[in-house]
Amino acid sequence: MLVGLFLILLCCSDCLVLVSSLNDEGFVLLTLKQSISLDPDGAFSYWDSSNETPCSWNGVGCLNDIVVSVTIPKRNLYGFLPSSLGALSGLRHLNLRNNRLFGSLPFQLFSAQALQSLVLYGNSFSGFVPNGIGKLKYLQTLDLSQNLFNGSLPASIIQCSRLKTIDVSHNNFTGSLPHGFGTSFSYLEKLDLSFNTFDGSLPSDLGNLSSLQGTFDLSHNLFSGSIPSSLGNLPEKVYIDLSHNNLSGPIPQNGALMNRGPTAFIGNPGLCGSPLKSKCSSGTLSASSPSLLPFLPDDHSPGISGVYAEKTRGLSKSAVIAIVLGDVVGICLIGLLFSYCYSRACYPRTKDKMGHNSDKGKGRNECLCFRKDESESVSQNVEQYDLVPLDAQVGFDLDELLKASAFVIGKSGIGIVYKVVLEDGVTLAVRRLGEGGSQRFKEFQTEVEAIAKLRHSNLVTLRAYYWSVDEKLLIYEFIPNGNLATAIHGKPGTVSFTPLSWSARLKIMEGIAKGIVYLHEFSPKKYVHGDLKPNNILLTQNMEAKISDFGLARLANIAGGTPTLQSSRMASEKPLDPKQPKTVTSEIICSSSSNTGTCYQAPESLKVLKPSQKWDVYSYGMILLEMITGRFPLIQVSSSSEMDLVHWIQLCIEEQKPLSEVIDPHLIQDADKEEEFISILKIAMSCVHGSPERRPTMRHVSDAIERLSSSSSSSRN
Ligand SMILES: *[C@@H]1O[C@H](CO)[C@@H](O)[C@H](O)[C@H]1NC(C)=O
Ligand SMILES: *[C@@H]1O[C@H](CO)[C@@H](O)[C@H](O)[C@H]1NC(C)=O
Ligand SMILES: *[C@@H]1O[C@H](CO)[C@@H](O)[C@H](O)[C@H]1NC(C)=O
Ligand SMILES: *[C@@H]1O[C@H](CO)[C@@H](O)[C@H](O)[C@H]1NC(C)=O
Repeated sequence: MLVGLFLILLCCSDCLVLVSSLNDEGFVLLTLKQSISLDPDGAFSYWDSSNETPCSWNGVGCLNDIVVSVTIPKRNLYGFLPSSLGALSGLRHLNLRNNRLFGSLPFQLFSAQALQSLVLYGNSFSGFVPNGIGKLKYLQTLDLSQNLFNGSLPASIIQCSRLKTIDVSHNNFTGSLPHGFGTSFSYLEKLDLSFNTFDGSLPSDLGNLSSLQGTFDLSHNLFSGSIPSSLGNLPEKVYIDLSHNNLSGPIPQNGALMNRGPTAFIGNPGLCGSPLKSKCSSGTLSASSPSLLPFLPDDHSPGISGVYAEKTRGLSKSAVIAIVLGDVVGICLIGLLFSYCYSRACYPRTKDKMGHNSDKGKGRNECLCFRKDESESVSQNVEQYDLVPLDAQVGFDLDELLKASAFVIGKSGIGIVYKVVLEDGVTLAVRRLGEGGSQRFKEFQTEVEAIAKLRHSNLVTLRAYYWSVDEKLLIYEFIPNGNLATAIHGKPGTVSFTPLSWSARLKIMEGIAKGIVYLHEFSPKKYVHGDLKPNNILLTQNMEAKISDFGLARLANIAGGTPTLQSSRMASEKPLDPKQPKTVTSEIICSSSSNTGTCYQAPESLKVLKPSQKWDVYSYGMILLEMITGRFPLIQVSSSSEMDLVHWIQLCIEEQKPLSEVIDPHLIQDADKEEEFISILKIAMSCVHGSPERRPTMRHVSDAIERLSSSSSSSRN
């Protein structure tokens, strides 16, 4: 005891001597340095008591010599959070995410009442969140996710009325939500309570969270009771996830709750009604509807719910994916979508590094550990569980990607595409190729890296990829202005749109042509795109065309899971009668019953399986026709018959229809461009020639368009 006291005294007098020149806040920060017992990356090595202020130290930000931010993420810090930090009265931002900090959150921390963001996710903090949190009147961001916090959310949290983000997902929180939770946060944009053991019923005032714009995720908890219909008042675009709770009763069909995919509700054995397959037994219908119960055998309704409970639980992963695909527009936390891959990818690693965290690993990871029997190649690929950057500017990592907000922007035959906005504002497009399938990592890697070498101003750049046994992600630059299909025809379901001007169309035609010429002639392997269509042509803010989805079919094939372009072609080949004359072929593949995407495929691509550059020339010709006529590739000629665009134009030419009936009505005002229209039509018709040998090379086409475009712009000036 005496020795202990002596040591403390010694230590303190030591401190006094050392910090004599340092101001009080610097002294406070040194207690943080002292409470970190392991700092393998040397994050604190320049925190030196000989400075007068701590403002020059790594991770410390000051305003007028007052410390306003302490930001030390991802430095493997092992230690605890000292209570003294609360003395930093000007502290606005504390970010210690992704370290190995443990222990409880000291209540004294909340004396730092200027705090606007408290970001501690990805540590091993435990215990209760102290009730004093209510003192943080300016708090906007509270991110405590991926820790070991327990107990209930303190009731005083509702006094933090400026909160915009509450993320406490992946903890061990219990109890019900504090009273007034829904009505207290009028600025709340994101709420993520997933993966805890919250219970109790959903407060009906949750529907009052009217500023939500990203995520409303209550999944993987123990909430029970019925879904309040007031949740329908949430903004339409919010990603709602109530899955894997203990909710019951009918799903209200109003407002934001309507037209949701079933993924928002699965894993609640007692829920019924659309969009789930389980019908509500009459007992749960509204009181006014006549009850059928007396006419049914006694054991009927439990039977139904039993069956459906089983079905819902047993929903295969592929079914879940298919359901997700069915949701055209949704907004969600990418971490949620990828939680499956994340828990596999990251927890095992964390666990290896830090023994004290093994509980967490066990708790979350049971079923998600590497399945030893899956493939012998798994072990060889364990080190591949990370994001692989493909250019030097990639400044983000998997962790940041998973934390980012993600918006579903599209789905194609091959995976879903998300727009992902990182913390620092960088926007990316992430394509999720799907799971499972083959384990051919080396092949995948070779292919991706070959694609990544292709750099051209008219090609979308691949910036990084992620590979694991279960998840393959391609991370592209984000092209903000939608795709060419929308630019030509408008968004389905919307009435008004601004038609493209003729000069914009020429510029796009020229850009696409240049991109293809690059692929055909200058890329290392003289590639064939193989799947050119307006959906794959993206547009930048100033209408520069960017070709996307290049090489995707092969990648998806290697990644397994999703059917590839090639195999879907072969499938559609089967019903074809080989005796049928050639000209009919395109009408058969290009019909409304099949995917109209096939209209862009050269007829011979059905017969010959070796891709040829002339396939791309054909597709390009179709795109030109679509851009100049403003018509879809398939034209309804009468109520019962349809015709593809190529045959329709041939017919117009035979019948000597006036040009004004062929071109896009939006171009009529550019009557002086008639010659240009005709030139483009001629080029287009040569590109879609039935025999591949007669089609021009892309180089010729590109030169012709370029000449036309430059003479067009010079005549304009
Ligand atoms: C919370 O966790 C701490 C240890 O971290 C434990 O002592 C305490 O009993 C837990 N409380 C609850 C309610 O589970
Ligand atoms: C979470 O809390 C439950 C009880 O509330 C406890 O049994 C469990 O061990 C806790 N898990 C962790 C990782 O602390
Ligand atoms: C909550 O929302 C409901 C319905 O939108 C409204 O009637 C009520 O006044 C709101 N309550 C508060 C406190 O804003
Ligand atoms: C689910 O809710 C029912 C009542 O609706 C309750 O009896 C049951 O214990 C709950 N299950 C769990 C796991 O909490």
